[in-house]
Amino acid sequence: MKKKIVVAITGASGAIYADLLLKKLNQLKDQIAEVAIVMSDNAKDVWRFELDNEDYNKHSYKFYAKNDFMAPFASGSAKFDTMVIVPCSMGTLGRIASGVSDDLICRAADVILKERRKLILVARDTPFNLIHIRNMETVTEAGGIICPAIPSYYSKPKTIEELALTVVNRIIDLIGLEHESYRWSSE
Ligand SMILES: Cc1cc2nc3c(=O)[nH]c(=O)nc-3n(C[C@H](O)[C@H](O)[C@H](O)COP(=O)(O)O)c2cc1C
Repeated sequence: MKKKIVVAITGASGAIYADLLLKKLNQLKDQIAEVAIVMSDNAKDVWRFELDNEDYNKHSYKFYAKNDFMAPFASGSAKFDTMVIVPCSMGTLGRIASGVSDDLICRAADVILKERRKLILVARDTPFNLIHIRNMETVTEAGGIICPAIPSYYSKPKTIEELALTVVNRIIDLIGLEHESYRWSSE
């Protein structure tokens, strides 16, 4: 079955993860039925600041406004399989953990959890306070997956992009898409 995926982008540091994920999903489009995007206002600010562009407008997927509760994935009946929040701010994490569905991102996450589908939060901050950790516990207990924006080094990445891809490739694995990626082998 081809995947129906919501990509939500929030105002944590790490816009590069969202950019690379959207590019990689485009490369894997034969496995995907639909990708829908929603961004918070803060996400747009952070993207412009960190990447010095507005290329989120250049991705070919359908964009939904942050308060568009008429979006298909605001209802479980639209049967989106997976939602990735990348990067996921502590504010958005907290609203999801509290069941506050006051914008499309939090409503869609609420829907994915109630429908027992896959919610992947690429949470980003450092250090974490106890509220963040408890919110991650709550979302995990509700069925969500915390996939923190923590890169790995054992593939010996040479550029910032290669380093960021160590996170993005794990997200692609979690979505359940087949793709080429570094795979650890001690041999
Ligand atoms: C440059 C920049 C970097 C930020 N990085 C983070 C971060 O890594 N994690 C985080 O939780 N918030 C971060 N913030 C703060 C969030 O943008 C802020 O809490 C905002 O309310 C999040 O809103 P949203 O979840 O609706 O996008 C950052 C803000 C700016 C301007």
